[in-house]
Amino acid sequence: MTSTDTTRPIEILPSVLTADYSKLGEACVALEAGGVDRIHWDVMDGNFVPNLSFGADIIASTRPLIDLPFEAHLMVTEPTWILESMVAAGCSRITVHAEACTHLHRTLGRIRELGAAAGVALNPGTPAEVVADVLDLTELILVMTVNPGFGGQSYLASMEPKIARIRSMIDASGFAIDLEVDGGIGPATIAAATSAGANAFVAGSAMFRDPEGFAHATAELRTIAESADKR
Ligand code: DX5
Ligand code: ZN
Repeated sequence: MTSTDTTRPIEILPSVLTADYSKLGEACVALEAGGVDRIHWDVMDGNFVPNLSFGADIIASTRPLIDLPFEAHLMVTEPTWILESMVAAGCSRITVHAEACTHLHRTLGRIRELGAAAGVALNPGTPAEVVADVLDLTELILVMTVNPGFGGQSYLASMEPKIARIRSMIDASGFAIDLEVDGGIGPATIAAATSAGANAFVAGSAMFRDPEGFAHATAELRTIAESADKR
């Protein structure tokens, strides 16, 4: 195995699930001005998870407003039905849940064929090992640190050994893959997730509930993650 450096930059990724939907476009503009790295769209179908959120048309309507990349986190039972429309809506990273993909290998290949980066998300109950044989087909592994469906839930510190196992798998593979965490990430939890091996952090409540605004929330999260002990 080569000793390729798999270190990835720290990224702060706001989930707009927590936004005021009557001002979604304004929120995207303000998040970009606040210094975030990408917009994280939580796409929910009311079936894979109990909640229903945005589809491609809503995402596309905000696309012309900002330059930041968009990523779609598909919490849907049939992700293959909407891959094309998500890419057409302007999402350059598409993450599917391993639990929703009978043919995960094929689905990741399809995302890449469409010209997007491919990600795999794992529910808390899904073991790290399900990504072992698709590392060559993914740019991003997303470890859920809550059960998906809603913002504002508590961070599951019990996921940290899984984050660490995936970090080791990525390092051993030599591929440049982001390790993202999603759920309950905020100033009190981001250091532990970083030390476990994550480099990309989705934040909904921590971003939208910071009374000092997006720039403050982003800088605070980034500073804590950058100064945390790394594996
Ligand atoms: C949960 C979503 C998350 C969530 C994050 O299903 O995937 O992106 O909205 O929200 P917080 O940061 O509030 O846990
Ligand atoms: Zn998400």
